[in-house]
Amino acid sequence: MKVLTTIAEVRAERAKLGRLALVPTMGALHAGHLSLVDFARRRAPHVAVSIFVNPTQFGHNEDFNRYPRPIEDDLAKCQSNGVDFVFNPPVEQMYPSGVVDCVVDLPSLSTVLEGKHRPGHFKGVCQVVAKLFNIVRPDVAIFGQKDYQQLRIIEAMAEALDFNIEILAGPTVRDLDGLAMSSRNAYLSPEEREKSLAISRALFAAQQEFANGVRQANRLLTTVQKTMLEKHLLIDYVAAVDAKTLKHTDTITGPTVIAVATRVGKTRLIDNVVLEP
Ligand code: PAJ
Repeated sequence: MKVLTTIAEVRAERAKLGRLALVPTMGALHAGHLSLVDFARRRAPHVAVSIFVNPTQFGHNEDFNRYPRPIEDDLAKCQSNGVDFVFNPPVEQMYPSGVVDCVVDLPSLSTVLEGKHRPGHFKGVCQVVAKLFNIVRPDVAIFGQKDYQQLRIIEAMAEALDFNIEILAGPTVRDLDGLAMSSRNAYLSPEEREKSLAISRALFAAQQEFANGVRQANRLLTTVQKTMLEKHLLIDYVAAVDAKTLKHTDTITGPTVIAVATRVGKTRLIDNVVLEP
């Protein structure tokens, strides 16, 4: 496995490979990330992983500086999961002159849900993913359903700008107790982790009600809220939205995402389930 840190090295390496799948990450790799690598391997003979904690998608008061960066462990995981090359650039390689005065935005998708609570976040995500797509030029790129809004925005960006890259979604990987895996779970104290289990419990309860035939979004959202408030979780939002447009849904007639964001102590956690009538 090669570990590349410059754009020139990536372009040279990519030119030697046939069909290539890319899994973009910010590192601190867990089983959720590795499931995307597995997925990628089944879709293409060659797999690249990018590991880059992208400063432009973090707000000023967010955790850019304390975001975990266990690069040696990450490389070992990529190596044992059959990755051809890892792209791990320093910030100066991606942003040589500091601020990049070029924005890719999809406002109707990027200003709701997470976008409302993290202004500018998705501009940063689109900026770095567009750059990664142009640098690596993969045939396929894999994103997790865990970050549903991000997945939907990247899909829409790739389509709108004719990247000619197939965007595929990997299902959310959870710990045995239901908590969606996230690099940020490392911030949680044992008590906070225990409280956080109410997030997936709440989403699964809504999923069960939906399976029992409930189609009114409000009823499902009430269930989610009640379950989370029992554990005194601070809710940023609980929403039922159309899986494609991310617009609020009243009566569920097509694919719908129930999305939640909470703060547990200093840690912000998001999760979702996709309901398919
Ligand atoms: P990061 O949070 O490292 O996530 C990288 C990829 O792993 C994303 O597609 C994310 O949705 C997926 N992922 C995270 N947790 C998952 C889980 N429990 N199950 C399945 N997939 C999971 O998302 C980012 O990085 C960045 O915003 C990035 C796209 C790399 C741009 O900087």
